Amino acid sequence: MKVESVKPPKAAADPGSLHKKMMQLLSSLWVTHAIGTFARLGLADAMEAGADNAEAIARPRGLVTDRVYRLLRALSTCGIVTESAGGTFALTPLGRMLTSNAPNSMRTSAELLTEYNGEIWGHLDGALEGGIAFEALKGKPLFNWLHANPEEGARFQRMMVEVHSPETPAIVAAYDFSQFKHIIDVGGGHGMLLSAIIAAHPDVRGTLFDLQEGVDAALRGAGGPLPGVTFTAGDVFDSVPEGADAYLFRHLLHDYDDDDCIKVLKNVRRAMKPASRVLVLEKTVPTDDTPGPGRWLDLHVMLLTGGRERTVPEYAALFGKSGLRLERVLPTAHPAVEIIEVVAAS
Ligand SMILES: C[S@@+](CC[C@H](N)C(=O)[O-])C[C@H]1O[C@@H](n2cnc3c(N)ncnc32)[C@H](O)[C@@H]1O
Repeated sequence: MKVESVKPPKAAADPGSLHKKMMQLLSSLWVTHAIGTFARLGLADAMEAGADNAEAIARPRGLVTDRVYRLLRALSTCGIVTESAGGTFALTPLGRMLTSNAPNSMRTSAELLTEYNGEIWGHLDGALEGGIAFEALKGKPLFNWLHANPEEGARFQRMMVEVHSPETPAIVAAYDFSQFKHIIDVGGGHGMLLSAIIAAHPDVRGTLFDLQEGVDAALRGAGGPLPGVTFTAGDVFDSVPEGADAYLFRHLLHDYDDDDCIKVLKNVRRAMKPASRVLVLEKTVPTDDTPGPGRWLDLHVMLLTGGRERTVPEYAALFGKSGLRLERVLPTAHPAVEIIEVVAAS
């Protein structure tokens, strides 16, 4: 996410700087697409396997050498590859993240952010009048479309693993999960969070609750081992399994508008024991000019699912309408996630 500050650029009075800044903003789409193509066509993998010039990369794939050269040359300006004399290229550590097998691979994210996750941004004009861009593009809500296209369901879960991996240890370190006997991760998808919690606290019993696609990903081990975990496929709009000590919601509520969130939270309220906790794991949008990515993710989920990122008062209002009460908001060491602790309202 390029834009990190809500403050105007420092050199606001300098026309040259203003022009440069505007050109950077207007052309950032080029960079995203170039990276997406580099990942999608397996060019990073080719380089990792030893191809170090445009011809060696292009020829086996039926690509035009001159065009591949120009793509590599452009990518050398943003730290994905380096170019040496004689047209030799090398992957940087950043570029290696676009290979399939890197432990910190973001190849699927690079692909998907330049497929439907990119196309929806072309619908922003219309979206300001209402509606959900993804549905205009694909004819159905995201999670229904993922269900109808299982391969896409699996790629979506892979992207969730890639994007949210660095948050996971920060969440586990920031909260005492050992106080709970039974934790249900609602919309836990691939299961990475539950896997990390159980690894840190083996006495905790876990239930992973998600749509079938999420449960399938967890059962394949997409997010790591889940010893002793119960897998429950279901829809949070119907009901949530009863009786857990803690209900986790990582990046699920931001996929839904306020009315839908209230339906979900009322279902959780019905399922809770009096002392259960709900832990909403999201990044709140600051109400001041503190930097952070939430204002951009907010637009992305608006286009993708009709969801939104929320401020602390907005979350408190949602909980208040659902028979719940916001207890506290804890920071984590990761800038994209906080722990919003919620209890039953008395
Ligand atoms: C944005 S992903 C987050 C996944 C995971 N919690 C993480 O942090 O990486 C949202 C998850 O909620 C699940 N989900 C969405 N709508 C749901 C519903 N109506 N019932 C159950 N799960 C749902 C999706 O399948 C997906 O796994």
